[in-house]
Amino acid sequence: MQTAHELFLHELSDMLDGEEKLIQALGEHEQEASRPELKKAFASHRAQTQKQAQRLRQIFEDLGEQPKETDCKGIKGLIEEHEALKDEDPSPDLLDIGSVGGAIKVERYEISTYESLLQLARDMKHTDAVKLLSQNLKEEQETLRKMESFSKKLKPEQSGMEEIEEETTPSRRRAASGRRRRAA
Ligand SMILES: [Fe+2]
Repeated sequence: MQTAHELFLHELSDMLDGEEKLIQALGEHEQEASRPELKKAFASHRAQTQKQAQRLRQIFEDLGEQPKETDCKGIKGLIEEHEALKDEDPSPDLLDIGSVGGAIKVERYEISTYESLLQLARDMKHTDAVKLLSQNLKEEQETLRKMESFSKKLKPEQSGMEEIEEETTPSRRRAASGRRRRAA
């Protein structure tokens, strides 16, 4: 690889593969979510992601290029993290909280990638690509904000701390209550 153009096509191919992996993963997130508002959010982001993948294909077309066969290992890894969470058989409320946390990681990854792609597109004066990538970036930023607000709202049904406190010795209990007082 010697040129910015080659790097751009490499990164763009990777992101297209990432978006395609996410279309599938978001469908699963929608099925798994127990809160209706979260189901809705995943469904609408899935529809949005289909449009994002289409915009990336459009960039290839405008440049007279073809996407390369590639495997976006970043997104793949984040999806595998979610699979590992499900292997722990989480209760429905915890799965929702975990899915939102996972979605936040994905959005931050996508935002970083789109920012780098945008910089390259600007440097190469690919005006149409700048427009399309900016749209994708804007949508990812909106989704990140939405997921962050879910993260604040969703509360676990059981903290798990009640039992731990009962099991601890009196001296540890005093230390724990001291910590709680300081935290308050
Ligand atoms: Fe996306």
